[in-house]
Amino acid sequence: MIIILLGPPGAGKGTQTAALAKRYKLTPISTGDIFRANLNDRTPLGLEAQNYMSQGLLVPDDLTVRLVDDRLAQPDALGGCLLDGFPRTVFQAEELEKVLAKTGRKVDRCLLLDIPEKELMARLTGRRVCRSCSSVWHLNFYPPPADLICPLCGGEIYQRADDEEVAASNRLKVYLAQTQPLAEWYEKKGLLTSVAALGSPKEVEMAIEKALG
Ligand code: AP5
Repeated sequence: MIIILLGPPGAGKGTQTAALAKRYKLTPISTGDIFRANLNDRTPLGLEAQNYMSQGLLVPDDLTVRLVDDRLAQPDALGGCLLDGFPRTVFQAEELEKVLAKTGRKVDRCLLLDIPEKELMARLTGRRVCRSCSSVWHLNFYPPPADLICPLCGGEIYQRADDEEVAASNRLKVYLAQTQPLAEWYEKKGLLTSVAALGSPKEVEMAIEKALG
């Protein structure tokens, strides 16, 4: 199964991807996490991506598609995958079809996490993330430990630069302009399922399970 999680920044894609990957034994692939891991390691890809990410802009399509093409060819991705944060433009969605077709695969479902825009800024600016294992916390909803050391892996818990107010608000604008049209694109293909993403993470997970049947 290839499942896409679509939704605005802060909708809970990463949170739900972690839960669903475990439950359904699917390989989670997050383009944002891959870019951030490259940035931590100071690779040329990470440094190039940072120029866009720090401003809340999308990394250029050609770079992103190449990265996903490589990732989807790895052995752990040949079974089922959860795609978090990819595709993000109609061009990326078209390219994804071509990449999957090379191995006889296709997208099975695109889940749209539907949430009122006014909830998103609080989720983004309060988020804290582990630099090593990418686990997600929230200052108000799921507070991290006081010493900001990740209890899961010992990594440093920090605030993403693009979660500060200006970049976060840019990301919301970019989502509306460049990514939201994808919902209609997948709807026309009969692949879109909308899920209310307002309850607790567990409630959203249950709603997704119901939607997936
Ligand atoms: P990326 O890392 O993908 O960021 P995003 O899509 O903006 O999504 P977020 O990670 O901000 O939010 P999320 O929906 O995963 O929410 P989360 O579960 O963490 O991308 C970052 C950047 O990389 C992009 O801006 C771009 O530059 C680049 N990039 C990545 N992919 C790209 C692509 N395909 N093309 C081009 N560029 C690309 O939850 C948010 C917070 O809310 C957390 O604190 C969490 O604890 C909390 N929370 C979650 N669920 C709930 C709930 N139900 N109730 C209360 N709180 C909740």
